Amino acid sequence: MNVKLDPWGSSNIDDYSKLFDEFGIQRFDELLFGIEQPSSYMRRKIIFGHRDYDMITRAMNDNDPFAVMSGFMPSGKVHLGGKMVMDQIVWHQQMGGEAFVGIADREAYSVRGYSWEKCKKIGIEEYILSLIALGFEPEGHIYFQSQSRNVKDLAFEMGVKANFSELSAIYGFNGQTNIAHMVSALSQSADILQPELEEFGGPKPTVVPAGADQDPHMRLTRGLANKMNMFLIEKRTDKNNVPFVSVRSKTAPVDALEEVSEALPWDTKLFEGHVDIFGVDDLTKLKEITMEVEMNNGGYGFLPPASTYHRFMSGLQGGKMSSSVPDSLIALTDDPDDAARKVKKAKTGGRMTLKEQKELGGQPDECSVYELLVFHLSDDDGELAQIHSECLDGSRMCGSCKGLAAERMAEFLKDHQEKRELARERLEEYGL
Ligand code: TRP
Ligand code: SF4
Repeated sequence: MNVKLDPWGSSNIDDYSKLFDEFGIQRFDELLFGIEQPSSYMRRKIIFGHRDYDMITRAMNDNDPFAVMSGFMPSGKVHLGGKMVMDQIVWHQQMGGEAFVGIADREAYSVRGYSWEKCKKIGIEEYILSLIALGFEPEGHIYFQSQSRNVKDLAFEMGVKANFSELSAIYGFNGQTNIAHMVSALSQSADILQPELEEFGGPKPTVVPAGADQDPHMRLTRGLANKMNMFLIEKRTDKNNVPFVSVRSKTAPVDALEEVSEALPWDTKLFEGHVDIFGVDDLTKLKEITMEVEMNNGGYGFLPPASTYHRFMSGLQGGKMSSSVPDSLIALTDDPDDAARKVKKAKTGGRMTLKEQKELGGQPDECSVYELLVFHLSDDDGELAQIHSECLDGSRMCGSCKGLAAERMAEFLKDHQEKRELARERLEEYGL
């Protein structure tokens, strides 16, 4: 028998290895040691990949400003997948991050054809109440895209740097796509860069927690962040293989490059259009100085946003979660008893008969009930490791897992729904 002793089912991560190799997403486990109190999604390897998250851990550990941001299109019910993103926003807020949540009503209006009233109603009823119930505090910012002058202006300005081919490669746009839909794609990038605006204290590390399939949007936004900036910073080597850093002006006023050259504590050579810098021992410092000059000259100085990527739970019936298969998922507003029933009907990694189960053991890594516990229903790593090994060695039967998960699910939903009602009374505190 092939006994796997990793209680997190991290074998699934291998399915994502293409992301690492082809797209340059980095592995999250390399960062885990540097995080003082990693969240359960981190510890359990549900978050498996990232871009530039090291700048977030550094800011967290040094008590420097950083932000966390995500957006939700108000399209339907929030289910457990949405909860994962919300939990991560709340976690980063608790770690000292400035938190931003955009309700993407422009997206729902342009893509789904929903009226503004409908967007507002779904935004509040489904998304915002649950976000607050999960612990989002009012120091953070919750806004509707359509109400944010910042987001609308930035989306328009970024439109100068994005062209149709690039957007259609990501979003599948074609000649029939309505133009508001294209604008709403840029609004998403504007959402992500908004925390770096001067109004919120200027450029800062910002993380977007997302599902693994969201990386193309992040690549677009990171590219736009760079394109919006006045300077291009590149590591180079000269003819004699001596390394240097080149800061090239893209749109900076002539004097600004001179300013950069004077402000840097290293050997600099100023040319028309670029400055070469030798002996740089601290690239971060160089970037900070360049950014400051850019800000003084009316630029944005955006840092490309960081991201984390989590894997998805499978549907309760096996396969994917899908809104068209109601028994495959659980919404945060589902009736607790119904949800418990769904859990009891869920596909497990158990064997056909009890006898077989005792002889062969179950397959916790193929079990949606076990996944529910790992993702949402246990805060105790030791408990999970025990269930995992008892399942494998045949001493645990599926009925006990289902009972446990169903009971905890109902309890969680009951509590969550009470908190949602309390949140309803507090919307004003959030400026809503
Ligand atoms: N497009 C996302 C969705 O379909 C919503 C969204 C809008 C978003 N702005 C964002 C996601 C910024 C992450 C970051 O739900
Ligand atoms: Fe899943 Fe529990 Fe059955 Fe193992 S015993 S397959 S973990 S439900």
